[in-house]
Amino acid sequence: MLVTTPRGVVGRHVAEALRDRRDVRFLVRSEASAAVLEGVVRGEVLRGDATNAEDVRRAVAGVDRLFLAHPFAEDQIHAETTLGVAAVEAGVRRIVKLGARRFYGGLVPDAVTGNHDIITDRLRDTGIEELTVLQPDRFLQNFLPAASAIAQGTLADPAGSGARGYVDVRDIAEVAIAELLADRPVGGAIEISGPDALSLAELAQSFGAALETPVRHLDVPLDDAWRTDLAERGLSPQIIDGLHDLYANYRREGVAGLGDGVQRVLGRPPRSADDFAREVLRPAALETD
Ligand SMILES: NC(=O)c1ccc[n+]([C@@H]2O[C@H](COP(=O)([O-])OP(=O)(O)OC[C@H]3O[C@@H](n4cnc5c(N)ncnc54)[C@H](OP(=O)(O)O)[C@@H]3O)[C@@H](O)[C@H]2O)c1
Repeated sequence: MLVTTPRGVVGRHVAEALRDRRDVRFLVRSEASAAVLEGVVRGEVLRGDATNAEDVRRAVAGVDRLFLAHPFAEDQIHAETTLGVAAVEAGVRRIVKLGARRFYGGLVPDAVTGNHDIITDRLRDTGIEELTVLQPDRFLQNFLPAASAIAQGTLADPAGSGARGYVDVRDIAEVAIAELLADRPVGGAIEISGPDALSLAELAQSFGAALETPVRHLDVPLDDAWRTDLAERGLSPQIIDGLHDLYANYRREGVAGLGDGVQRVLGRPPRSADDFAREVLRPAALETD
């Protein structure tokens, strides 16, 4: 089995679940990620770039299943299609791809969900026998880098006032593992969300309860200042445009429907925002104190 992005937000939980298996190869790009994994996992840690044909050829050799993920980046379509196509040519029969929940109701096309559509079509075109596309809603773990600011009372976010099923990435990883290891995977598109559609104001309340301090949502407009902030953090104009359209769709969608993937695949309800706040956000906030 090949696991990509084993140090990614979702992939690290997939890697953790597979750490004791010898029949897993973990593809890492950076030396730092290789150093973290080596000595922890029993499988093989392979250094390589998902956009490099030779690295990809080595990564997929002898593999039967693939966990395929990649960040939203300029090279995402190239990386995922190169890996996916090479994997099928090398004999992979099952791909579990990390995608994203689609928007409903005729919203503006955005590059984030658009990339996943293009990649998924190309994977289907290979004739792969078993393809699972995980389609999670927004990750609760997106808020972890802001744990300290949240603990000081502000949840700043530009996704507007609608409500959605924010999802704990631990659930996404568990669904991915179940699909990778099952004798008969559920397969197809699997929408994954938390148990409730929450507005950012309600999410702030949930975070505040766990942190034992009032937290309020600050609506960040998608304006020039927002663009400048992202550019200063090193994001390219193309990626900023993609994120702009994604957030604009979050703002337009209003109340998003809930995906039943966790219940369908794992036979249990998804973790709640309260669970995440208590188990993940609070320790992170205390650490950055
Ligand atoms: N955030 C959300 O709310 C959300 C919601 C739904 C869906 N999604 C989808 O989730 C996906 C991202 O997943 P994620 O957040 O788990 O990923 P992530 O954390 O952004 O992935 C980061 C990892 O990607 C690896 N990587 C980057 N470029 C690489 C390359 N060229 N070759 C090999 N490895 C490379 C890096 O490896 P090194 O560490 O070795 O550099 C790094 O560890 C996106 O497709 C997005 O659309 C996100």
